[in-house]
Amino acid sequence: MTSDEIRRAFLHFFEERGHSIIPSSSLVPAGDPSLLLTSAGMVQFKPYFLGESIPPNRRLASCQKCFRTTDIEAVGDTKHLTFFEMLGNFSVGDYFKREAISWAWEFVTQHLALPQERLWITIYRADEEASAYWQEVGVPGDRILRLEEEDNFWGPAGDSGPCGPCSEILYDMGQGIGCQEPSCGPSCDCGRFLEIWNLVFTQYNQDSSGQRIPLPKPNIDTGMGLERATAAAGGKASVYETDLFVPLIERVSELAGCGYGGDEKTDHAIKVVAEHSRGMAFLIADGVIPANEGRGYVLRRVLRRAALFGRKLGLEEPFLTEMAKAVIGRMGQVYPELERRKDFILTVVGMEEARFNQTLNMGLDIFQNWMVKPRQDLLGYIRPLLGQLEMYEPWRQVIGYFGGVRHLCDNVTGTFESLRGPFEELKAHFERVPDEKGDETLYEETEAAVRKFLSDTTRISGDEVFMLYDTYGFPQELTAEVAAEHGFEVDREGFEEAMERQRARARAAQKFGRDEKVLDRDYRELGIQATPFVGYDSLKYQTIIAGLLVNGQPLQTASP
Ligand code: SER
Repeated sequence: MTSDEIRRAFLHFFEERGHSIIPSSSLVPAGDPSLLLTSAGMVQFKPYFLGESIPPNRRLASCQKCFRTTDIEAVGDTKHLTFFEMLGNFSVGDYFKREAISWAWEFVTQHLALPQERLWITIYRADEEASAYWQEVGVPGDRILRLEEEDNFWGPAGDSGPCGPCSEILYDMGQGIGCQEPSCGPSCDCGRFLEIWNLVFTQYNQDSSGQRIPLPKPNIDTGMGLERATAAAGGKASVYETDLFVPLIERVSELAGCGYGGDEKTDHAIKVVAEHSRGMAFLIADGVIPANEGRGYVLRRVLRRAALFGRKLGLEEPFLTEMAKAVIGRMGQVYPELERRKDFILTVVGMEEARFNQTLNMGLDIFQNWMVKPRQDLLGYIRPLLGQLEMYEPWRQVIGYFGGVRHLCDNVTGTFESLRGPFEELKAHFERVPDEKGDETLYEETEAAVRKFLSDTTRISGDEVFMLYDTYGFPQELTAEVAAEHGFEVDREGFEEAMERQRARARAAQKFGRDEKVLDRDYRELGIQATPFVGYDSLKYQTIIAGLLVNGQPLQTASP
């Protein structure tokens, strides 16, 4: 079955069983401040579950556009996606577990025609009812696994809302897929056992303090990933081999002039580009534009990651508008908003990519030459030192060797301050070392100092990560990824601290610019004319500083 057939068959199946088909809502949840982006089919139905509004029908079904930021870094494996379509049937206080389970089983075994011997069920540990209903439809007891809360209790989406125990249908992709360990089983996360459908028995409303209050009537909220279902029904090893992705994978390969299916790293990059291209096109179609925070940041991040992974494939020139066109071509029939907003999508993608490329080139250069290269030189020199220490070389020789390290360090720390402290620490240790090795404790301390220095050297400091972010637009996650390729890590905490310092500066600057009281009294006191606003007509304007006020007092000079 193709994905289009599965989508249609699913909605038809539930329509026949009394459900109203509801179109997908936007990826930007309407009036739901608890949620960044629509992450499940139930999001648009939350008010129904909470009894805040009346549904058009107590049985609903949909194919919902979803976006999950939690999986961004896992994208490129067999099953994790940021953007995906979720097929779902919902009962608002109408049917409950028995019907939800028997219909899901019927659809999966008869319509998707998945062989029963490849299906596994998970339930919430003490859910005897669910276990009994699964057995009623013919699932053998030993195919039903009981899992704990972290696996089989769903929700809420966001920090509060409806939630409840759940039960999943897993599909065994076959022995050839995943870790291939003898211990591999349905609870292994290696990719062999694919969760295709989650049935949530929505019984509670969780408030923002984490308290769960039973809902007046239990509900059903199910979600089946269309991409995964299509992979399973078509006997494909991953979602990227389904008809939803093949045209996109082909387009990336064509643009990059490289084949798919040969080299693992190349394939991974191709998959990330294809996946993120869908995400960016759909986000923009729903009105999200690139920004440094919130939804706009999610978009910026996937778009920039796509650009970056494109580079790994040798795509140095802008190519993402081509990818956006491919997405619109593949999905526009089902989601007409893509066609309707095509020009807008292409413009936003083109502008953001151009902007990113400009800064990226400069940033990558700086990263490589100022941060990676000197560290590599230093590590190349200092690692053997550790070896010498271990071999109990005469201390004099070790200290002689240290002269070379000092020379490198002086150059390196000239480039970035962050290593100066660790280097000084190391130097202090060596200065305490006598000519002949004798004192075992001192030896151990010195070895520890060298090891610490090594680990400090393989960490890119928060200030450096911040500089790349602030000046060159590198999201911290990207820096971490590029750093990891060189065997380095980044100081995330240090980065957060640098971010906080910048926020404080921004707040202070805002206060300075927006002190309305001062601006009101303003120019008359300073003896100057009101200034006209020219920003609608020109982007550049030559003017003068007419006066300075500090705490309401006119001054001749001022400093921060
Ligand atoms: N809300 C549940 C999920 O996202 C079922 O739709 O898995």
